[in-house]
Amino acid sequence: MAQNGGNQDDGTSQHQQTLAEARAAGVARILIDESDLQREIRAIARELDEEYRGDRPLMIGVLKGAVAFMTDVMKAMTIPVEIDFMAISSYGASTQSSGVVRILKDLGQDIEGRRIIIIEDIVDSGLTLQYLLDLLRRRNPKDIRVVALLKKNKAEAATVQVDRVAFEIPDEFVVGYGLDYAETYRNLPYVAVLDPSVYSEPGDA
Ligand code: PRP
Repeated sequence: MAQNGGNQDDGTSQHQQTLAEARAAGVARILIDESDLQREIRAIARELDEEYRGDRPLMIGVLKGAVAFMTDVMKAMTIPVEIDFMAISSYGASTQSSGVVRILKDLGQDIEGRRIIIIEDIVDSGLTLQYLLDLLRRRNPKDIRVVALLKKNKAEAATVQVDRVAFEIPDEFVVGYGLDYAETYRNLPYVAVLDPSVYSEPGDA
């Protein structure tokens, strides 16, 4: 008992330390905490289990931001699932997607006839996802389902196919749980709003 209690205390204080450091490093506030993330992930995993029971879908993660979400979703699923990754980079300005993208890493396999689950961390303008959908549809999969952790409430993203969104969020700069600013914050265990001072001061990142 004493040992268990000790471990819990250590974990709690470690977490508080992490949060304190994150705040000091520019996190303004937590938008979605760990328990809300994990509860929604379990719900999504149950839905995917039902949808694909008897099948063996291929889950495609869009690097790098989708890694945390994808690994938690696949671990919560009970049916067999294969995984692969694509890495796509936007040309142009760093904080806005241009819709002109290039493939940095392609799939390692043919997807013709396969059932595909695209896992995205965030749909902002929707341009990256639209590009990816157009690309993958040309490869003749059986079907494609899009699951996104976050979707911004923006008119621009309204027309792109997103079948399941874990959380709709306001148009703020978010980091954590896979999402970065200048490659920092990806390993925060929650989704947080970044203090605008971090990205409004040139050279600060
Ligand atoms: C992010 C995110 C999406 C895309 C969303 O990727 O992972 O793929 O932007 O933006 P959009 O809807 O406006 O197109 P990013 O290029 O930042 O790469 P990363 O995942 O490696 O951080």
